[in-house]
Amino acid sequence: MKPKVDLRKIKAEELKTIDLDTVDINLEAPDFEPQRQYYFMAKCREWVREFERKYGRRPFAFIQTFGCQMNAKDSEKLIGILRQTGFEESPQQEEADLILYNTCTVRDNANQKVYGHLGYLQTLKKKRPHLIIGLCGCMMQEAQVVEKIQKSYSFVDLVFGTHNIYKLAELLYGRLKGKSMVIDIWESTKQSVEELPARRKYAFKSGVNIMYGCNNFCSYCIVPYVRGRERSRQPEEILDEIRRLAADGVKEVMLLGQNVNSYGKTLEEPMSFARLLRQVAQIDGVERIRFMTSHPKDLSDELIEAMRDCKKVCRHLHLPLQSGSSRILEQMNRHYTKEQYLDLVERIRQAVPEISLTTDIIVGFPGETEEDFQETLDVVRKVGFDSAFTFIYSKRTGTPAAAREDQIPEEVVKDRFERLLKTVQQIASQVCARDLGKIRDVLVESVNDHQEGYVSGRLSSNLLVHFPGDASLIGQILPVKLTEAKGFYYMGMVNKEAV
Ligand code: 5AD
Ligand code: SF4
Repeated sequence: MKPKVDLRKIKAEELKTIDLDTVDINLEAPDFEPQRQYYFMAKCREWVREFERKYGRRPFAFIQTFGCQMNAKDSEKLIGILRQTGFEESPQQEEADLILYNTCTVRDNANQKVYGHLGYLQTLKKKRPHLIIGLCGCMMQEAQVVEKIQKSYSFVDLVFGTHNIYKLAELLYGRLKGKSMVIDIWESTKQSVEELPARRKYAFKSGVNIMYGCNNFCSYCIVPYVRGRERSRQPEEILDEIRRLAADGVKEVMLLGQNVNSYGKTLEEPMSFARLLRQVAQIDGVERIRFMTSHPKDLSDELIEAMRDCKKVCRHLHLPLQSGSSRILEQMNRHYTKEQYLDLVERIRQAVPEISLTTDIIVGFPGETEEDFQETLDVVRKVGFDSAFTFIYSKRTGTPAAAREDQIPEEVVKDRFERLLKTVQQIASQVCARDLGKIRDVLVESVNDHQEGYVSGRLSSNLLVHFPGDASLIGQILPVKLTEAKGFYYMGMVNKEAV
């Protein structure tokens, strides 16, 4: 028999390669991270083994992710922990033994979707009483949501928030040993536990958290309340993670944060996002760098220069506008005017002429008039976005805008929303055709589900391209001739001479 390992004596960097079956789980749990979580993964394995003996297979886990890229990244971490524990991922919740919903709460319809699904989960649990149901993420950071779950959805087993997703194994163990719902919500945290297993959805691209939280308090937005204050990771820690990803075959990284342009401002040794970007660009093996999201108020000339100089930085910038009216922007607490936004776009275009710009726009913010809305349309026409995510303003309890009395009637908002969508689509279909006939690099992402014998990939501008090919091309960057512009995507053909 192999000697048993005391996790309290193991260094963090050795944990990723440790065989959890050798861990001595009769000792006390380490009181420091990430060792403590590996200990609980080993503890949960006992339950997994018992499950295997009983059912003749491993337990299946199903994770449903709602919301943004940050949540997608969090889900990769959750899946990593579950796999390490012995679960297998299942694409179908109907056959799962553990279902986890990683929720979003940025707009009310995200909450409604989760409540809608919960009814179905209850029927699943009736059929499969051993099913473990967990809810985590942004929506769970709202006290009234947790109250409602306790009261009306008592079949839920696990509830945790955004600050402690790394504790999944410990919480799961608590549920397996106890009988009642386990709830663990933190108001805030200074700690981020990173050295835990993660399961990448794609072998060739990965998101990398560079910061957590947001300090901006835009008056409509609930994110600062549910994701907490801004915390930047140490640059060396980020660069090490990217080096490891590159060594593991990752070609494209997406640097993630609610407001990447203010990266590093709160570090003991302050550091700018532009400097971080230049350092990431020096890592061998990384061929494409993207980042999300940029706040216009913090987008510096230093960053524009870094984007211009680093050819690995993709020619795409997501720059949320929210509104084109300076009056509304001020009430939104955005700290820029219409003119400043347009001027910023101008400066970016001068430095990086081929840049593709995308944006987020909200219609129906309290007090928005037809004139304000016309200003938004004006910016949309002047900038010529490649695409825009358009949202109907959603009242979020606890935000300053929600308390206003001048909320806009639903039919007025709907009418504006449709006009905005039409304008955005009209312009985008023209703008997106600009590379027609050209040869451009495409990172192949998947086989095309709709057209046999085709694959799909992305341009540096983030637009999709479909072209003949097979699964062996996935993960490669290929020169593709863009033969047909279809509005929001291209059809193409690999350029054989350039390969
Ligand atoms: N209502 C509508 N849209 C919102 N967003 C954030 N909060 C709200 C809200 N209360 C949008 C913003 C942001 C995007 C992620 O979601 O446009 O950029
Ligand atoms: Fe919300 Fe504004 Fe922070 Fe973006 S910058 S997450 S819109 S508060």
